[in-house]
Amino acid sequence: MARELRSVSEVVTAHRQLEGGGFPVRRPFPTAGRDMVDPFLLLDEMGPVDWGPGEAIGAPDHPHRGFETVTYVLEGRMEHRDSGGHHGVIGPGDVQWMTAGAGVVHSELPEESFLRTGGRMHGFQLWVNLPARDKMMRPRYQDVPSSAIPVAGTDDGKVRVRVIAGEALGQSAVIDTRIPITYLHFTLEPGGSVVSTVGSGHAVFAHVFRGIGTFGEDGREGREGQMVVFDRRGDAVSIACDAGADGPLDLLLIGGEPIDEPVARYGPFVMNTPQEIQQAFVDFRSGRMGRIAF
Ligand code: CO
Repeated sequence: MARELRSVSEVVTAHRQLEGGGFPVRRPFPTAGRDMVDPFLLLDEMGPVDWGPGEAIGAPDHPHRGFETVTYVLEGRMEHRDSGGHHGVIGPGDVQWMTAGAGVVHSELPEESFLRTGGRMHGFQLWVNLPARDKMMRPRYQDVPSSAIPVAGTDDGKVRVRVIAGEALGQSAVIDTRIPITYLHFTLEPGGSVVSTVGSGHAVFAHVFRGIGTFGEDGREGREGQMVVFDRRGDAVSIACDAGADGPLDLLLIGGEPIDEPVARYGPFVMNTPQEIQQAFVDFRSGRMGRIAF
């Protein structure tokens, strides 16, 4: 079956900024010019940052309702605790796909021994919206260790992909998503190229975090810190790393079926109407989302 290659509609540079508490992030969206990439609400590249002993910071107790947070760690170790009694450590290559649904209160902090010794922290957090029918579902966790993430590659050995959600190069993810989502970590050596299938009509973008690549039918350049947004027409995207490049290309290729519903958003709550946001505050303040008790 012939696949139609998508072209690139836009290349956006994400500048580094300090998140609350002083954590350095790159945030391609939301920005002043772009609220979201439906169904995605936010993407943060956390670090890379080199913490000294005792310096690492994270996010103490805070609530979420109405969407999913997806944490993917490349370097460093984060510790997670929540109001449902869930506890886990996310280290290099691990993924935590948390469906907040009706609500959780959680903390995302540097793991104790990592905090003590310091070291490099680098990772990503993606927020995936939930359709109205799932916003009040029971919270759910999918904690997937690095070893359980399927890996695929091209025959020439120049392209490697970790399949976090969706599928690529014949491998399917182990993580289950509420709506069709693709979340792939591609690494291309110089001279490597790949064509990856994406859902028809899905919003698709690449976030480049190392090196320089060429993208889409028209071979647009995207480099470290840039988000390459693909046009909606077509069912495959092409990615290449020039044979003369100084080093490998690393990127996240993220796609999803737009939910196309009204979005009411305030801080950690993402619902469909302002009334539902008010209700979320009431429920949080009255303790109906629980608290961290251990
Ligand atoms: Co959180």
